[in-house]
Amino acid sequence: TAKAFIFDLDGVLTDTAEFHFIAWQATAHQLGLEFTREDNEGLKGVDRVGSLQLILDKGQLSVSEEKFEQLLVEKNQHYLELINDINPDNLFPGVLDCFAALKEQGIKIGLASASKNAAFVVDKLGIADLFDFIGDAASVANSKPAPDIFLSVAQGLGLSPEDCIGVEDAVAGVTAIKSAGMYAVGIGEKSVLTQADIVFPTTGEMDVQQLLS
Ligand code: G6P
Ligand code: MG
Repeated sequence: TAKAFIFDLDGVLTDTAEFHFIAWQATAHQLGLEFTREDNEGLKGVDRVGSLQLILDKGQLSVSEEKFEQLLVEKNQHYLELINDINPDNLFPGVLDCFAALKEQGIKIGLASASKNAAFVVDKLGIADLFDFIGDAASVANSKPAPDIFLSVAQGLGLSPEDCIGVEDAVAGVTAIKSAGMYAVGIGEKSVLTQADIVFPTTGEMDVQQLLS
């Protein structure tokens, strides 16, 4: 059975995926581009630079390096404003119970977010101390869908990938988990997260006992 659960953050533990969407949509609109929720699916789990590149590619736009940098800074400022008031109430229902159940059974808990704001967000949510290891998105070579962040967290936990279960809401994230050689739990829609080994509609509905047996 598994020895650790490695969680994504945005869209798995809290609804910050919605704030990323709002901020990227504002960026796209500023560029005169449409940006739907469907477009956003492809951005989930993708790092900041990669996300902007996807938006520009889809709109067949190119901008100068300076403009690119400026758009990244503005998006992040907007995102930080949107998450300014988040607090423990913004945790998805069931997350604390899930963590408690894992701890009770000696299962380690890791965090594998692509976000450079992850440490700030888990701090605001009041859950920073519950993790045995928090991955650092800034220090891995390749971002999701590459397996790097999940592998670095397994290593940080002192475990091999086969002993870990990854939990993700993003297509790129599920691919990262599978490339890392881990069992993949998808949070969302089965028709979207086709590579996941099992999918639950929400984190709160995730059946920890079933996954551990
Ligand atoms: C997560 C989110 C993405 C976001 C990425 C980078 O993976 O799912 O939507 O683009 O983190 O976040 P950052 O906070 O570093 O811009
Ligand atoms: Mg996510």
